[in-house]
Amino acid sequence: MKRWLIAALTLAVIAIATWRFFPRTAAAARDLTVLFTCDVRGRLVPCGCFTGQLGGLTRVATLIGKGPQPGTLKVDIGDAIEGTDDFHQIEYRYIQQAFAAMGYEALNVGHAEARLSAAELRKLKTSSPVPMLSANLIDQSTGAPVFDSHRIVRRGPWRIALVGVLEPLGTDESLGEGLIVEKMEVVLGKLLPSLKSHADFIVLLAFADDAGLRNLAKQFYELDIILGGKVKQPSQDLVRENRSLILATTNQSRALGTLGVTLAAPSRVTPVRGEVVLVSDQISQDDEIAALAATYRDEIRRTALAIDDPATLQQDMVPGVKARAAYAGSASCVACHPSAGKVWQDSSHGHAWQTLVARKADADPNCIGCHSVGFGTPSGYRREFGAAKLTNVGCESCHGPGSQHVAERQAGGAMTTHFRPIGAGDCQKCHHGEFSRPFDWDSFWPAVRHGKENAAPAIRPATQAPAAAPVRPGA
Ligand code: HEC
Ligand code: HEC
Ligand code: HEC
Ligand code: HEC
Repeated sequence: MKRWLIAALTLAVIAIATWRFFPRTAAAARDLTVLFTCDVRGRLVPCGCFTGQLGGLTRVATLIGKGPQPGTLKVDIGDAIEGTDDFHQIEYRYIQQAFAAMGYEALNVGHAEARLSAAELRKLKTSSPVPMLSANLIDQSTGAPVFDSHRIVRRGPWRIALVGVLEPLGTDESLGEGLIVEKMEVVLGKLLPSLKSHADFIVLLAFADDAGLRNLAKQFYELDIILGGKVKQPSQDLVRENRSLILATTNQSRALGTLGVTLAAPSRVTPVRGEVVLVSDQISQDDEIAALAATYRDEIRRTALAIDDPATLQQDMVPGVKARAAYAGSASCVACHPSAGKVWQDSSHGHAWQTLVARKADADPNCIGCHSVGFGTPSGYRREFGAAKLTNVGCESCHGPGSQHVAERQAGGAMTTHFRPIGAGDCQKCHHGEFSRPFDWDSFWPAVRHGKENAAPAIRPATQAPAAAPVRPGA
């Protein structure tokens, strides 16, 4: 063999050996900002129920910028979907698109997603422009994970493995049909040792509570960063446990996890800052994400949903037990209760439907419930009614269905039924959380206060066409 060839080969062998044994040690340290959400729960846009409301992916987008950026890594830790209904799944597809527009690189599966069936999840996996990850959510029929366990992304010279896991669901929570959750420790025990040779850093997206996150750090030295989670509160501080940095966020898109690190030699992560920042109402809303929300509302308006079908609503009733009363509509109440009617008309409860119409949200089941009468019950508002009846926060939204009361009062005979007393708890069915200013009876009730008529009302109002022979009091 020619001497130069031997020399060249020797050099090549040395080069490969050095590269294998000291991979990337000489590579420059690199700053990376990891940005993450958890518990978005369908909040593509904030509902706008009161001013000063926080959150919404429209604002997250403004805060973190869009598209992929070399110095950042954006991921979601799970519970991005609101619920298991058909409209939640449609909405979730737009949320996936919003994540893609923001340059997210992985969506971990949380408990909310794991309540869907294996078949539904397979569809969402196909539709997602961003890879969905879960190492321990198993398809019962195949015994294999429904999603990829991990993916590897690059930042300069570094290979960063993103691994997804979720804590098993509680005994009272129902996992989706055809799914099994394996223990996180078992799957990670199998996966991490081999993954270590393919990646310089391992970032775990863990839908787990505080104790669960720490336990994972204690058990697996391979984990450089652990992002959570299924926590009650966003992290106050960045935690170091064993070899991992741990940070967690939650709160329905109102809090964004931000972890700044320097990546040096493999597995040498130096924290620069770790905090959870508020997605404040001062942040403007991104037009592209707002447009996705508008397209969702258009699609939902055109789509037939389970909630539109009274037969499916009937099924939720106790079998064999007939509903005591049905919703009669506020117009019939106002006829006999004119002073209560006047207060109601003048309050915003009497115009709550128009609020949704103005936002093109009047066909969105996420909104209709609190801005109409009895939505989701057999005799309540249905989307096919349009604006025709049972819109607004009506008399019966608070007092309950009144058909029997109306019938008995009109008949003028003995009253066998009475409305139940109402208190602050009834108001808080709608006036809670992000949907209301903090509720306080003493300041809220005066704005809508009403009661018995001063003068006893005519049993049958003159304004209403008599359906039977008029009955006059004392006649
Ligand atoms: C859980 C019940 C609930 C749901 C669901 C709900 N709202 Fe509201 N909404 C309220 C309450 C209560 C208020 C009044 C809050 C207050 O006065 O502090 C309100 C007020 C509003 C207002 C402000 C009205 C005004 O005149 O200032 C808008 C806009 C609104 N809602 C839109 C929506 C949209 C859009 C959705 C669906 C994404 C929605 N709401 C879903 C309960 C709800
Ligand atoms: C045909 C007339 C008539 C109609 C229609 C009517 N009411 Fe009444 N209602 C009365 C009379 C009369 C009373 C007893 C006097 C009073 O409390 O003002 C009464 C009493 C009430 C009370 C007091 C508690 C009770 O159970 O007696 C409530 C609450 C009430 N009505 C709500 C409603 C609502 C809500 C509607 C519409 C679904 C409605 N009413 C329709 C005539 C009517
Ligand atoms: C079915 C849901 C629902 C219930 C129950 C409910 N509200 Fe409301 N409330 C709303 C909505 C929706 C709005 C905002 C309407 C709008 O502007 O579109 C609102 C607005 C208000 C406002 C501010 C508007 C104004 O007119 O000053 C007050 C005050 C209020 N509600 C008090 C109460 C009280 C007190 C109760 C209980 C006795 C109650 N609400 C029960 C849904 C509800
Ligand atoms: C936001 C919730 C809410 C709405 C909407 C509402 N009410 Fe009431 N209503 C109450 C509360 C709270 C009381 C006082 C406590 C109670 O009677 O249980 C009350 C009291 C009454 C009373 C007197 C009851 C009594 O025993 O003295 C009548 C009558 C009445 N409402 C009729 C109506 C009519 C008619 C409408 C529609 C035009 C209406 N209400 C809309 C919450 C509401």
